[in-house]
Amino acid sequence: MSVVKINAITVPKERQERFEERFRGRAGAVESTPGFEWFELLRPQEGTDQYLVYTRWADEAAYEAWQSSQDFDRAHSGGGDTLAPAAASSSHLWSYEVIEYAGPKVNQDNQA
Ligand code: HEM
Repeated sequence: MSVVKINAITVPKERQERFEERFRGRAGAVESTPGFEWFELLRPQEGTDQYLVYTRWADEAAYEAWQSSQDFDRAHSGGGDTLAPAAASSSHLWSYEVIEYAGPKVNQDNQA
């Protein structure tokens, strides 16, 4: 079963625009990583002020390999930017195992 790794990041108000901009210009290397399955950047709306970086992987080893790769370092070095991991005000890594999942049913009528 897949594993989900969520990085929960608190970004001060005055840095949020820059933070989102950084993600718009992100490396995009993660898409080509073996075992990578999904990525989403979630902007907080209500009940929290944490951004979530949601990632899903084929297994723990796939995530570990990416996390210790140059691609990860490159995406996170930040060139001295205050948004680089080391300078983040707060971030937490949450790990999950996917035990059930579902997507929408395919509508057979619409198929040729
Ligand atoms: C330690 C605190 C962290 C901070 C502050 C942080 C922040 C960021 C920022 C600002 C970017 C945009 C890329 C750029 O600026 O060049 C980025 C990319 C990314 N981060 Fe993090 N990150 C952290 C750790 C992590 C961790 C532990 C994960 C694992 C779930 C993760 C997942 C990602 C992914 C998937 C991308 C996109 C990489 C790509 O496009 O190849 N981050 N992160």
